[in-house]
This record gives sequence, structure tokens and C-alpha cells, in this order.
Amino acid sequence: MNGETKTRLRITGLGIVIAAVVSTWAVGAFGQKATPGPGSAPASANAPATSAAAPTATASIAAPSKTPDALVERGLYLARAGDCISCHTGPSKVPFAGGLPMKTPFGTIVSTNITPDKAGGIGDYTEADFARALRDGVRRDGKHLYPAMPYTSFARIDDADMHALYAYFQRGVKPVAEKPPATDLPWPFSMRWLMLGWNFLYLEPGVYSPDAARSAEWNRGAYLVQGLGHCGECHTPRNSLTGGVKSTSDRRGDSFLAGALIDGWYAQPLRHTDRPTAAQWSSADLVAFLGTGRTSHTAAFGGMSEVVENSTQYMSKEDLGAIASYLQTVGAPAGSVPPAASPQAAVVAAADKHPDTLKLRAGTVEGAGAMIYLNNCNACHRSSGAGADGVFPSLSGNSVVNAKDPTSLIRIVLGGSAMPSTEKAPSALAMPGFGWRLTDANVADLLSYVRVTWGNKAEAVTPAQVAAVRATFKPADLALTKP
Ligand code: HEC
Ligand code: HEC
Ligand code: HEC
Repeated sequence: MNGETKTRLRITGLGIVIAAVVSTWAVGAFGQKATPGPGSAPASANAPATSAAAPTATASIAAPSKTPDALVERGLYLARAGDCISCHTGPSKVPFAGGLPMKTPFGTIVSTNITPDKAGGIGDYTEADFARALRDGVRRDGKHLYPAMPYTSFARIDDADMHALYAYFQRGVKPVAEKPPATDLPWPFSMRWLMLGWNFLYLEPGVYSPDAARSAEWNRGAYLVQGLGHCGECHTPRNSLTGGVKSTSDRRGDSFLAGALIDGWYAQPLRHTDRPTAAQWSSADLVAFLGTGRTSHTAAFGGMSEVVENSTQYMSKEDLGAIASYLQTVGAPAGSVPPAASPQAAVVAAADKHPDTLKLRAGTVEGAGAMIYLNNCNACHRSSGAGADGVFPSLSGNSVVNAKDPTSLIRIVLGGSAMPSTEKAPSALAMPGFGWRLTDANVADLLSYVRVTWGNKAEAVTPAQVAAVRATFKPADLALTKP
């Protein structure tokens, strides 16, 4: 993805102005802001007690490690968990040298150089400056960062991890003098102080505070998901006017990890809903998905491929297991226990004998959708829709197929996709795109059929929905997938 323009931030111009208006009255209320909310109660042993409201408390940070290399190593691990490289690497492809343009409705924000170069990068940053940029979204010169930098999530990072990250970015990364073009938004958005109002609405100060009623593993998972992993930046819906992530933890309402559109893909809910979601997967499947980009019956694609390639594949089994044990509880009905096997496994096991499978094989299904399926999809995803273990995802019982928002489904059929290539699973199996040969009406018929077959239960797809997704492709990109 490096070099391609991203649209991470969906803030409308009007929204920013409203945020600014809010800021004028908010300034007076800022004193109250430091009051810990439910999500920022005093931290415990797990997370040393410092809040983002007092980032200068770095003096209290753990004494310098006796083995500096271990600290830098730890920092590298955390930098991967935070996926700093995806946003801070631009067209030059030099890691952390910045320059990635991120499109927003009010102009393009360019990521900055975070190598330890004094002129081009953050070589002059003290640890306190660094912590303030990550947790408060304020640069060394005191100016506000735009929330294209996920500081509302990074605010949860505890002092020990901040210390290791700082060590890595000062001593583990090669300084690069390259200076990416400055972000130059048109007035009034060029006034960075406007972010004060936005922050008042969306930035909750305070490092992660463990939930004493939960296990250490669960808290570790929550810490990673809400903080460094910034999963909610893509998986939690935003306020459509002001672009803020609506909820930053499970303690703050039902919208946390409830699914959202990001860069033209739908990042599925990671919480329990009334449909199949990853929150119902077994721990083994969640660990496999995040570690290798695939399970027996599904695979990562779109923006998640990059997250797996650059970030989660490097996380330890323990940390991925912790993430799983946390996600399995988000929005879970009271008293439910995490399953030993993902529900999709049972659906796949039964798919061969499903009445819809038998009808497809006998050629007794009516309607255009089934015919289009047989002619285009059957070779890989099979008449049972079950695909092939570890190779072709199963369309039956699949959370993408059953998602309320069909955007990802339409996009993958029009443009195709490749699985991430990871150390543990290097083969990047690909699905071809069909946008060059199927019309909007064909795709709507096909997907409407797939969404009610083999036990799937989801709304029909309309040609207008397909046309809207098609309009986001360059015609040349669709032609590219032509064999
Ligand atoms: C989702 C994209 C994204 C991710 C992930 C991200 N950043 Fe950023 N970061 C940005 C953007 C964009 C800016 C510049 C924002 C601006 O100019 O207002 C920025 C700015 C910064 C700055 C301020 C530098 C300066 O002086 O301009 C620091 C420090 C920083 N990021 C560190 C990190 C670290 C460390 C990580 C990983 C833990 C990280 N970032 C992850 C997008 C990201
Ligand atoms: C840059 C945006 C982005 C970030 C950050 C991100 N995701 Fe995703 N994620 C997506 C998109 C888009 C999809 C849909 C594509 C797919 O299913 O692979 C997705 C899909 C998933 C799925 C599969 C869901 C399903 O029902 O098939 C899981 C599990 C997941 N993400 C977990 C995470 C976790 C855990 C984190 C944080 C460590 C995270 N994601 C961070 C964009 C993101
Ligand atoms: C040549 C084999 C092949 C054909 C033909 C094919 N697919 Fe796929 N499909 C794949 C592969 C491989 C993936 C995984 C891609 C990825 O993860 O990036 C996939 C992924 C998908 C997914 C996402 C599922 C998930 O859990 O990740 C859907 C939905 C899908 N295909 C639907 C279809 C439909 C509908 C058709 C017919 C128009 C079709 N496919 C034709 C190989 C194929």
C-alpha cells in the first residue's frame, strides 16, 4: 500500500468548524476534562499510574534497563503492534521516513518522518515530547496533530511501553534526513488549534486501567485492542459529521468495534451482534487469523491484509490469545462461554449435504444468481459454498457474506483480492476480479443468491449498491483483473 493515498479520516469540513465552535466553550471546561472518567480510573500494577493529562511525569518512568538492547527489541515489538510503519512509510518506501498522503475531505494530510534524524525526523524529541505526541496528539513545537495519527487510541499506552517505544525510535531506527512535504490544508483547517475542540469531544485522557474483575489475559487483550493495536480506528463507526470514533472501549457503549467502512472496505464488527462475527470464533481461529491472515474457512483481505502483514503476524501467541479472549467477550450475552470451535466449522461440515448444495448439483435451482455462481465461483468455492480448507474461504456461515453492509462482498467480487503473505503462511492465494465481465445487475443477482443460500441469512444486494462500489474503482483497475 505504501505510496497510495489513504482515506483514514472521515471528517467533514463542517464538522471541523463545529468542533472548533465547541472548543470555544470547551476551553473553559478543560479543567474538568482531567477528571478520570469510567475508562481512566487510577491505574494498577499492570499499568503504571500516569495519565495522558500529565505526560511530563516521565520522571517516574522505570529506571533505564540494564540491557538496552532488550529495551530496543521490546520497542520494535511494540512498534509492530502499533503498526507505525504502515502510515509512516511513503512513496520513498524508506521505513518511518513518512510522506504517505492521507486524503480527507478538507485536504491531504501527509505523515511525518519519525526516524531519529534531528532535521527531518524526531531526533530532537525528548521522551516527554514523544509521549505527548502519542497520547495527546501534540507535536514538539506545541502544535496539534490531526487525528489521522491515532492518538485517541495511543492515549492508553502505559509508561513502560512508551519508554520502550521511545528507545526504539531513538536508538533502533536509522536516522533518515528525508523531509516529506508538509501538510498544507486550506484555511480554516490549517489552524491546528481547531483540534482542541475535536479533542474535547473525542480524546479521553488516561492510560489503560485494568478491570479488576477480569483475568490478566483479558486485560492484556483489552489493552492491546483499545491502545497500541488501535483496532477501533477501523472497526468502530465514526460520527459522520465530525469524524470522531464514537466509542473507544467496551465500557463506552455498543458502538465499540461495531463495524465501519474504511478505505472502501467494510471492517466487520469484532463484537457480538445478531449475525456471525469474529467475536464468536474460537481462540485458535482468532490467533490463526491475526498470525497468518487465514483460518481454515476464511481469509484476510483489503485493509486487514496490511494489518496482518505489517503488524499482527509479529505478535506473540500469548498476545494474540489475549486479544482473542478479550474480543470473545465484547457484547457477549451474559453467561456465554467462548466456543471451543468456531460456529462456521459446523456449518462447513454440514454444507455438503445442505439442500441448497444438492439443488445446485442437480441443476434444479432457479434464478439468474445460481447460474452466475455456477459459471464464475463454483470452481473454487464449490457447490457446497464450503471452498477448500485453508485455500478457498467458505462462503457458508461466513461473516463477510452475512454482514449487514455488503460493501466488502461487492468489492471483492468486482476487483478480486489476495491474502496477506506472512512468515507462517507465505502463499498469497488470490481471488480474481469479476468486475470486467459481470454487470451491476449480475453481481446483485449473484450476491443476493449467495446471501440466502447454505443457511446464510442477509439482505438482498441491489444493482445500485453495486454501481456505487464500482464507481470507486478506476476502470483500468477492473480491466487489470481480466485474465
Ligand atoms: C493511522 C496512521 C498512523 C499510525 C498507525 C501512526 N501514525 Fe504517527 N502520525 C500519523 C500522521 C498522519 C501524522 C502527522 C499528523 C499531522 O501532521 O498532523 C503522525 C505524526 C506522528 C508524530 C509527530 C511527529 C511530528 O513531529 O510531526 C509522532 C511522534 C508519531 N506520529 C509517532 C507514531 C508512532 C510511534 C506510531 C506507532 C506506535 C505511529 N505514529 C502510528 C499517522 C499515523
Ligand atoms: C486499517 C484498518 C484496520 C485496522 C487498524 C484493523 N482492522 Fe481488522 N479488518 C479491517 C478490514 C477492512 C476488515 C475486513 C476484511 C477482512 O475480513 O479481512 C477487517 C477484518 C478483521 C477480522 C475478520 C472479521 C471477519 O468477520 O471476518 C478480524 C478478526 C480483525 N479484522 C481483527 C482486527 C484486530 C484484532 C485489530 C487490531 C489489532 C484490527 N482488526 C485492526 C481493517 C482493519
Ligand atoms: C480462482 C479461485 C476463486 C474464484 C473463481 C472465486 N474466488 Fe472468491 N476467493 C478466492 C480466494 C483465494 C479468496 C481469499 C482472498 C483473500 O483473502 O484475499 C476468496 C475470497 C472470497 C470472499 C471473502 C471470504 C473471506 O472469508 O475472506 C468472498 C465473499 C468470495 N471469495 C466470493 C466469491 C464469489 C461470489 C465468486 C464468484 C464471482 C468467487 N469468490 C470466485 C478464490 C476464488
